[in-house]
Amino acid sequence: MEKLVIKGGTRLKGEVTISGAKNAAVAILPATLLVNGICHINNLPNISDVKIICNILKELGAKITWKKENEITIDTTEINSTKAPLEMTSKFRASYYLIGSMLGRCGNIEVGLPGGCNLGARPIDQHIKGFEALGAKVTVGQGKIHAKAKKLVGTSIYMDVVSVGATINIMLASVLAEGTTTIDNAAKEPHIVDVANFLNTMGADIRGAGTDVIKINGVKQLKSEGTYSVVPDQIEAGTFMLAAIASKGDILVKNCIPEHLDCITAKILEIGGNVEDYGDSIRVSANKRPSKASVKTLPYPGFPTDMQPQMGVVLSIANGTSIINESIWESRFQYTAELNKMGAQITAQGKTAVFEGVDKLYGAPVYASDLRAGAALIIAGIIADGVTELYNIEHIDRGYENIEEKFRNLGANIQRISE
Ligand code: UD1
Repeated sequence: MEKLVIKGGTRLKGEVTISGAKNAAVAILPATLLVNGICHINNLPNISDVKIICNILKELGAKITWKKENEITIDTTEINSTKAPLEMTSKFRASYYLIGSMLGRCGNIEVGLPGGCNLGARPIDQHIKGFEALGAKVTVGQGKIHAKAKKLVGTSIYMDVVSVGATINIMLASVLAEGTTTIDNAAKEPHIVDVANFLNTMGADIRGAGTDVIKINGVKQLKSEGTYSVVPDQIEAGTFMLAAIASKGDILVKNCIPEHLDCITAKILEIGGNVEDYGDSIRVSANKRPSKASVKTLPYPGFPTDMQPQMGVVLSIANGTSIINESIWESRFQYTAELNKMGAQITAQGKTAVFEGVDKLYGAPVYASDLRAGAALIIAGIIADGVTELYNIEHIDRGYENIEEKFRNLGANIQRISE
């Protein structure tokens, strides 16, 4: 078992380079199954979710060559299985993208029910509704999902809830379907645009990704070879931006797309921080305690739920009383109990948490309940007085590349220790 030991009291200063987006990478990798050829993928984040999905693709018959730590070549010409190993697929959320991809490729796939962060109920009814509308038969039982289709035919699909995963999954299943598919009330996150850009680079005909309405004109096949670079991670960039504010530091966040971060920037300015936009990097600094704020998480371009715990750390030490309303996930305040162990005064009930800002946090043993909660607790440890021991860090390794090294380069005193 590993833990992070953080000696706190640091003002973070310096530069950090953002890696490729986790949530784009974990969709683009399964999307290579639609290609039936060779994909060169660059700017892949070196995280455990990427490694797991590569191992699953290998089990299905893909040949994978790592060129460098962040560059991979995937040859999907010899896919020879339609059963993704259950124990591997049920470990993480994005395994559901194998369904859309394999339905599109060969009309048959069996995967374990998706796992991932425990954020409350995570239904996949919208994914299934989309697959069925395209002509697939989907059965769920005994911990697995089996999807089958003789032929997929494009149709109009209205999403009852705005879902990132369902939007991408239906897009994947429609790329090689007969005719045109329209997704109404689609999610608009940057990684949806990135998956569409990857597929279009490979010869798909997808229009409107990044808006409410996505149209996919089915094509007979994709190109046999292509190269694509994954978009920078909006959430990783936002994590370091808020770390700068929480620590009253000064960080140049390099390799990011500032427009993807507009709502984080707006909140930072509102609470008294400084933000300078340099086109492909963003400098964030603060020289005073943040002021209170109200935050409500919403689908993009609203404030991302995946930035909520990091914002919670900032508001835990803000001047005054703040409120966060979590409108996407029902159990996303587990981190507040850990922050309270560090001296925060947060009352969380249902989807609302009230933060009575305190002057200081104090180091304590704390547990990461999920990926973003883990990142938030690192920030808390860095700004706290004394030593914080952070456990369950495998959650953090799922989605942040070299996180302790990146924080160390900004001046943090943080060590990974095996027990
Ligand atoms: C993705 C992200 C996750 C992020 C979330 C919201 C990945 C791998 N994960 O998760 O980090 O927190 O978007 O930005 O990209 N819903 C349904 N039925 C469905 C699907 C979703 O009711 O079939 C509901 C969910 O319960 C939730 C909301 O829709 O309340 C949004 O979920 P969704 O956007 O699908 O999240 P994920 O794709 O699982």
